[in-house]
Parts: sequence; C-alpha cells; structure tokens
Amino acid sequence: MQTETTYNYKVVRQFTLITILWGIVGMTVGVLIAAQLLWPALNFDIPWLTYSRLRPLHTNAVIFAFGGSALIGTSFYVVQRTCQTRLFGGWLPGFVFWGWTLVIVLAAITLPLGLTSSKEYAELEWPIDLLITVVWVAYAIVFFGTIMKRKVKHIYVANWFYGAFILTIAVLHIFNNIEWPISLTKSYSVYPGAIDAMVQWWYGHNAVGFFLTAGFLGMMYYFIPKQAGRPVYSYRLSVVHFWALISTYMWAGPHHLHYTALPDWAQSLGMVFSLILLAPSWGGMINGIMTLSGAWHKLRTDPIIRFLIVSLSFYGMSTFEGPMMSVKTVNALSHYTDWTIGHVHSGALGWVALVTIGSTYALLPWLYGRKSMYSTRLIEVHFWIATIGIVLYIASMWIAGVMQGLMWRAVNPDGTLTYTFMESIKQTYPFYAVRLLGGVLFLAGMFVMAYNAWMTVRGAEPVEDRVPATA
Ligand code: HEM
Ligand code: HEM
Repeated sequence: MQTETTYNYKVVRQFTLITILWGIVGMTVGVLIAAQLLWPALNFDIPWLTYSRLRPLHTNAVIFAFGGSALIGTSFYVVQRTCQTRLFGGWLPGFVFWGWTLVIVLAAITLPLGLTSSKEYAELEWPIDLLITVVWVAYAIVFFGTIMKRKVKHIYVANWFYGAFILTIAVLHIFNNIEWPISLTKSYSVYPGAIDAMVQWWYGHNAVGFFLTAGFLGMMYYFIPKQAGRPVYSYRLSVVHFWALISTYMWAGPHHLHYTALPDWAQSLGMVFSLILLAPSWGGMINGIMTLSGAWHKLRTDPIIRFLIVSLSFYGMSTFEGPMMSVKTVNALSHYTDWTIGHVHSGALGWVALVTIGSTYALLPWLYGRKSMYSTRLIEVHFWIATIGIVLYIASMWIAGVMQGLMWRAVNPDGTLTYTFMESIKQTYPFYAVRLLGGVLFLAGMFVMAYNAWMTVRGAEPVEDRVPATA
C-alpha cells in the first residue's frame, strides 16, 4: 500500500540558500587576497589576515562550502525527483546539512588561526577530518538509500555522476588524510617524502575530477534538459561519457608533479592519461550543449539557459587547456606561473560557479512555488557582469603567466639570467590589478543574485510536492 508522502525539500532549501551565502563569503576572501597581491599592506600586520592563511580559507570556502553545499543540495533534489521517492533516512539529511555547516564553520575558525596539515585542499586538521568522514558517510547513506528505494527501475545518468562523486571523495579523503596526531591541533602525514606528494596529488587531481567535475556534471545532466525542456541529446553518449571519464581521471594526478622526485614513468603516465581525458570531457560538453538542439532560441530569451550553456563552454575550454598544460614541455613553462591560476579560475568561475548559479536560479522558484525568479532582468545583469569578470580574470592571468614563464627562462649569451625574479613580479602588477577588477565584478554579481533570491523567497510558501503514489 502506498502512503501519501512529500519530497524532502526542506534540506534542499537549506543547502540552496547557504550556497549563495558561502559563495559570497568565499569570493570576498578571494577578492581580498587578490588585493593583497597588489597591496601586501592589506594584511594590516594581523597574523589571521596574512595571505598564507587566507588563501586556504578562500579555496576551502569556494570549493567545499560553496561548491559542496551546491552539490549536496542539488543531489538531494535530483535523486528524489528522478527516483520518485522521498529522501531516505528520516533525520539523516538534516544531520548532513548541520554537520557540513559545522565543518565549514570550524574551517573558517582554524585556518585563519594557522592550524593546518599543509596539504593543499586537505588543510583541515584531524578532528575536522574525522567529522567530515562521519558527515560524508551519512550523506552516502541518504543518497544511496534513496536510490535503493526508488520507484522507477531506471537510474537516471545524473545520479551516476553524483554517486561516483560521493564514493570517490570518500576514498580520497580517507587515504590522503591518514596522519599521526601529535596534539589536538597538529598531525603529520603517515606517508614519507615523494610518496606523500604522489598521494596528495592523486587526491588533489581527483578532487578536481570528482568534486569540481563529476558532481557538477550530475548537476548539468539534470538542470540543462529540465530548463531547456528537451531530453538529453544522447543518452548513449552520456553513459560512454560517464565510464570513460571516471576511469581516466584516476591516473592523471602526476601531471601536478612534473620534473620532481616522482619516477619519470609516473610523470609520463599522468601526461598520457591527461591527454586522453580530453575526449570524454568534450563528449560530455557536446552532449550538454547539443541538448539545446531545436531550442537554440532559448539562449536569447532565457538567461538561466545562458548561464548553463556558457558554463559548458568554459568547461570545454579548461579541459582543452588542462591536457595541453600536462604536456611536460608546456608545463616547464606554465608551472609556478599565473597561467595555472588562470586555468584554475576558467574551470572554477567559468564552469563550477556558472553551472551552480544557473542551476540555483532554476531551482529556487521550484522550491518556493514561484513561477520564476523575482527579476529576470537582474539574472541578465548578473550574467553579463559575471562573464566580463571571468574574462578579465583569466585573460590577465594567461598573459601574466606566459610572460613570467618566458622571463624566468630568458638567458644572456654568457648564461646568466636576463631578468631577476623581482623584475617579473613588477611586470605582473598591472595584470594583478585587472584580475582584481574581474574578481570584484564577479563578486558584485553574487550580491545581485542574493538580492534576487531574497526577493523571490521572501513571503513565499515553501513547496511540499507530493511523491506520486505509483510509478
Ligand atoms: C571573486 C572570485 C574569485 C577571486 C577574486 C579569486 C581569487 C583568487 C586568488 C587571488 C587566488 C590565489 C592566486 C595565487 O596564489 O596566485 C586564488 C586561488 C584559488 N582559487 Fe580563487 N578566486 C575567486 C573565485 C574562486 C572560485 C569560485 C573557486 C572554485 C570554485 C576558486 C578556486 C580557487 C583555487 C582552487 C585556488 C588555488 C589555485 C592553485 O593553487 O593553483 N576561486 N583565487
Ligand atoms: C581534462 C581536464 C583537465 C586536465 C588534464 C587538467 C590539467 C591540469 C594541469 C596540467 C595543471 C597544472 C599542474 C601544475 O603545473 O602544477 C592543472 C592545474 C589545476 N587544475 Fe586542471 N585540468 C583539467 C581540468 C580542470 C578543471 C575542469 C578544473 C576546475 C574546475 C581544474 C582545476 C585545476 C586546479 C584547481 C589546478 C591547480 C592545482 C594546484 O596546483 O593547486 N582543472 N590542471
């Protein structure tokens, strides 16, 4: 017998609103550190505000708070709707929300205090690592429990991507954070030297592959067809895309460690797998963009579709650039320069942030019983300032990066270096100013979004959709 139940939208609403808040917080810190690179005095000689402490605060806030909340929130929505059943686990989804939020608050306190395990993107100390593990296991139970009790036979492809993201991040987090605690606030990795580096970048690259890519592809596979009102262009391609992507990403990590103590064969393996990765990445991009076939006019009329499709273009761009940068001879120029920072933000702002923003604009009215967002005009304004901001950010970093690489390798006929390091820094300042302007524009867009979201949800009745009695 089927009882009448509703979907659990409460937890989705919580995650969706907090995504906007964390976006603003994380990007404000990004703007501050971008300004500090121009004017170092902006740390006001306060240890908590030094660049070295705020930089990991920025990366943790944008990746795990902004990106993580968006991923957990949308996955909870998508898995319920596509499985036509309420979220599994009773109070467990609420625990995931409050647990994840606690992790973020603890990160915001400990990182400025200088408490860090010193592993990039895994800086949090061991007690917080344990909390993350508990929350993540709860998340996995809710997600896979919902899949298990689904009322449709088929598991929609978006859930495959979200599922791979959840499982892989669990494995990466646990193995990269095996450490010896020596006090409540300090631990050391159990891995020695070059092995530590390899484990770290196996983690680091797959954090890109599964946190910043696979999870957001899950988002893309639900929100683009839904917003466009069209089926996915090729379901077969989405399945090939899935298996090819997840089996290739795992091996590409060593491209972060070219010309290091890592064995040469491992570096070459990383490079080869990175080059192969271009194919599944572009397969996914093409599948997403072609979903708009027959509805191209929506690009003109619907700014939400524009956010989603432009995010895929940036995805395609950064997944073309990444394989190129993994070629050892190219990496010899790009590594240590701002080119890497340009690449990172064409993925992070262009792909991750834009697909999140587009999906959030689509989702909010559904969750609050509104026909659309409060102002479509403001979404339009947001789209343009965000896009101009990204272009200023990444173009300035590309030029700065190539310039730095060329200046550092320039030698005089007698073998001495043509430029000192300080000369290259001096030449970079104008580009740091342009990047700062790009960041300010992007952040301004987030405030426009917050206002639009507030006006949309203010006074609205939260929606409680019924789960269909039969599937
Ligand atoms: C207003 C927007 C943003 C601004 C102004 C900004 C600024 C910055 C700055 C100045 C750095 C340090 C660069 C350096 O050390 O030379 C940085 C690093 C980084 N940011 Fe952002 N950022 C923004 C948004 C984002 C978003 C949305 C994400 C991810 C979703 C992101 C991910 C990262 C990552 C992963 C790094 C470290 C890169 C590396 O180590 O190579 N940022 N950001
Ligand atoms: C086919 C896909 C991709 C490949 C093969 C790739 C390859 C690379 C390479 C070679 C580097 C430079 C490593 C170094 O010199 O240290 C790099 C850095 C990075 N990439 Fe990608 N990339 C890809 C896609 C992406 C996407 C879509 C994003 C973001 C959403 C991203 C985020 C990053 C980050 C955060 C770093 C900096 C890591 C660090 O040093 O802290 N990548 N990537």
